Amino acid sequence: MAATSTSALSFAEWSTDSQLNDSLCRLYAKYLTDNGYVHAVDVPEDFDHASFLSRFGEFRPGPSGKLIDDVTPEAGMDDVYYGGNRRPLLPHTEGYEFAGLPPRYLALWCVTPPAGEGGETTLMDTAPVLAGLSEQTRHVLRTQRLAFHGSAGLRRRGLDQHASHPMLTSVDGLTVLRFSSNNVDLDGVNAAVSAFLNRTTEMFESAHLAIRYQRNDLLHWDNWRLLHSRTAFEDPRRHLKRVQISYSSDVAKGTI
Ligand SMILES: [Fe+2]
Repeated sequence: MAATSTSALSFAEWSTDSQLNDSLCRLYAKYLTDNGYVHAVDVPEDFDHASFLSRFGEFRPGPSGKLIDDVTPEAGMDDVYYGGNRRPLLPHTEGYEFAGLPPRYLALWCVTPPAGEGGETTLMDTAPVLAGLSEQTRHVLRTQRLAFHGSAGLRRRGLDQHASHPMLTSVDGLTVLRFSSNNVDLDGVNAAVSAFLNRTTEMFESAHLAIRYQRNDLLHWDNWRLLHSRTAFEDPRRHLKRVQISYSSDVAKGTI
């Protein structure tokens, strides 16, 4: 059973009244810091999602090469593990296979919600999991390098990215988690690493939040801290927009 969202925030009052918007932004930033994500609901039709999100850092081009990706099910791709199809995904952080830092934030907003069951984005905060690790496991996760690779679907699309990183690193005092339940080579790695991967993947099954979209909803989360995934769906009209937001030290200092 999925947990209940604590970060839903109504944008019904978003307007040209800057004072009102300032107080909404303060709450938004608090939810993002405290819970690691925000689910903005009741978002007005004329709300500019991309402009709002640009306050949090530079956008990094997605698999399409565009700064704002269209996430729709691609024909002929349901036979592979791939973000661009209709099958379920396994828990992961975005960009584990990137050579440099993974995106600090990920954000999705809904153009067309899927009819019928499924198509939720699922999330789990790893902060309590990481806080409960033994010193020994933490040390292994910080020192054992793992070979990550992109999904089978991305490889079919010609994006064959690989990178070697420990699962845990730090930037400016912030913990960066790179996590993939399946796109990682575990041959010969310390048993503590695979135990952590398996335990956390199992925990995701019971502890995740499931976010169901209405049109214009915005879901924005800390990709260094939360795992995400997706439930299966049927409706080929499901359409989300997606941005990957690079790390900005100004954001870390709370200066937005
Ligand atoms: Fe993803």
